[in-house]
Amino acid sequence: MEPAVFWHTCLAIFISFSGFMVSCHLTDQVSLSSNFLFGTASSSYQYEGAFLSDGKGLSNWDVFTHEAGHVKDGSNGDVAVDHYHRYLEDIKLMADMGVNSFRFSISWARILPKGRFGKVNMAGIEYYSKLIDALLLKGIQPFVTLTHYDIPQELEDRYGGWLNSQIQYDFSYFANICFKYFGDRVKYWITMNEASFVAISGYRDGSYPPARCSGIFGNCSAGGDSEREPFIAAHNMILSHAAAVRIYRTRYQKCQGGMIGITMGVEWYEPFSNSSEDIAATQRARSFYTNWFLDPIILGRYPEEMVQILGSNLPEFSVSDLRMLSYGLDFIGINHYSAVYIKDCLYSACEHGNSWSEGSYLTTTQRDGVYIGEPGEVDWQFVYPQGIEKVVMYIKDRFNNTPMFITENGFAGNSSSIEDALNDVHRVKYMHSYLNSLANAIRKGADVRGYFAWSLLDNFEWLDGYTIRFGLYYVNYTNLQRTPKLSATKYPELMCNFHIELEAHTAQK
Ligand SMILES: *[C@@H]1O[C@H](CO)[C@@H](O)[C@H](O)[C@H]1NC(C)=O
Ligand SMILES: *[C@@H]1O[C@H](CO)[C@@H](O)[C@H](O)[C@H]1NC(C)=O
Ligand SMILES: *[C@@H]1O[C@H](CO)[C@@H](O)[C@H](O)[C@H]1NC(C)=O
Ligand SMILES: *[C@@H]1O[C@H](CO)[C@@H](O)[C@H](O)[C@H]1NC(C)=O
Repeated sequence: MEPAVFWHTCLAIFISFSGFMVSCHLTDQVSLSSNFLFGTASSSYQYEGAFLSDGKGLSNWDVFTHEAGHVKDGSNGDVAVDHYHRYLEDIKLMADMGVNSFRFSISWARILPKGRFGKVNMAGIEYYSKLIDALLLKGIQPFVTLTHYDIPQELEDRYGGWLNSQIQYDFSYFANICFKYFGDRVKYWITMNEASFVAISGYRDGSYPPARCSGIFGNCSAGGDSEREPFIAAHNMILSHAAAVRIYRTRYQKCQGGMIGITMGVEWYEPFSNSSEDIAATQRARSFYTNWFLDPIILGRYPEEMVQILGSNLPEFSVSDLRMLSYGLDFIGINHYSAVYIKDCLYSACEHGNSWSEGSYLTTTQRDGVYIGEPGEVDWQFVYPQGIEKVVMYIKDRFNNTPMFITENGFAGNSSSIEDALNDVHRVKYMHSYLNSLANAIRKGADVRGYFAWSLLDNFEWLDGYTIRFGLYYVNYTNLQRTPKLSATKYPELMCNFHIELEAHTAQK
């Protein structure tokens, strides 16, 4: 459906689902003036299928998933949802919902099988080029992540990946190629996805490649230093982001006219109590997870709490690093799913608290035996819609209302029967409540410019393999057939309702 047709249809829609009725009327005038991006999100390793036959090199995830014991169901992304071959069909599914943007990532190893030490794989360039053209043909803006967890294995083998400052040269070399070949058509770039999670999972608990950890965190066979390496890897990621942004700003942005940012995972941290200790612990938790990256990139320094606690374990920025960091970013991408309580472990006795190098706090999902929000279908997710408003307002206030995009938000489904999976009322309710809460933040002045549902399709969910399903479309992993869930049919109405909420706000002003 063309956007204009969608909005026209929107006029006539009356939504009704479990427990509430929302009438959805939208004038053409409003829809035309609205440039809010609504989309679905994906990533290369979770979607494409590895397909080395086009010249792609091995990524760290290709290697990692083929080692026994890492992934719950022993699966991998060799086929994933075969998006590589089915992207035209998938674009049609998006167009049917009336979204105007698609977030996907580029497989670094498909473009540069050997990093900067080898040739550009032109078949990879051609694949993404065709994908971008096909999206634009349907009026869908490509929103592109440069690395969504996956890096060429070559870089891991040669010099230890993110642990080595050389990766700045590789990442910016890769970014340059992407800007050069795709930047005429791609106006939104994300350097990396959930950067702090990559540093923590790869180098502290060792659950993700390169599976390094030590001491109380485990004794990984690959070795590691859980108390230092996460900070070294993160430091190199921050500088890699900066190096890519510098190239974009100095060589491309003026003529291509796009935006570039980074995506962080930002769950809502609620103080367990109003004690000054718990409030300080909550601030520490935010700094050790989110501000860890955003402060250096936006404010030019690590958060105070990290400097105080980590001392010399936190790398320092040189004068030339700081000059490069000053290129900053144009937007903050936020992946948001759930909320937890935070309790102090620095000044208080705390049995299961985390270590000093994590910020000495404890996360819990209950207070006085009551969960923070309604439990979802997986043990880590709680439905706490206020969380998205609070997260956005926190980021707004700390970073001077830098433009934001919700680059992921979604509901993890656990159902094993197709009937239950297709009738995903929990997901529809979740999206509805989170979008309403997001609209509150925008009403309060937050500069949020888009929302991406994770995910278009059920897909390879990392360590969970194919055991949990986030898709708006159900995927049968035997024949890879896609079937719309209730959420796919409701997404147009949710988008429409969201625009009405905002229109009401504009009218009041
Ligand atoms: C790792 O080995 C050290 C030294 O042997 C030991 O103290 C520590 O408990 C081990 N860690 C885990 C998580 O088993
Ligand atoms: C903390 O204080 C706020 C504002 O007074 C109040 O709404 C909230 O319930 C308090 N939280 C706790 C856990 O006592
Ligand atoms: C799925 O989630 C529901 C709701 O929380 C729960 O009752 C059920 O036990 C879960 N099933 C599995 C297989 O985890
Ligand atoms: C998935 O596809 C296979 C092969 O066509 C079919 O036998 C199976 O019934 C399908 N599963 C579901 C849940 O629809």
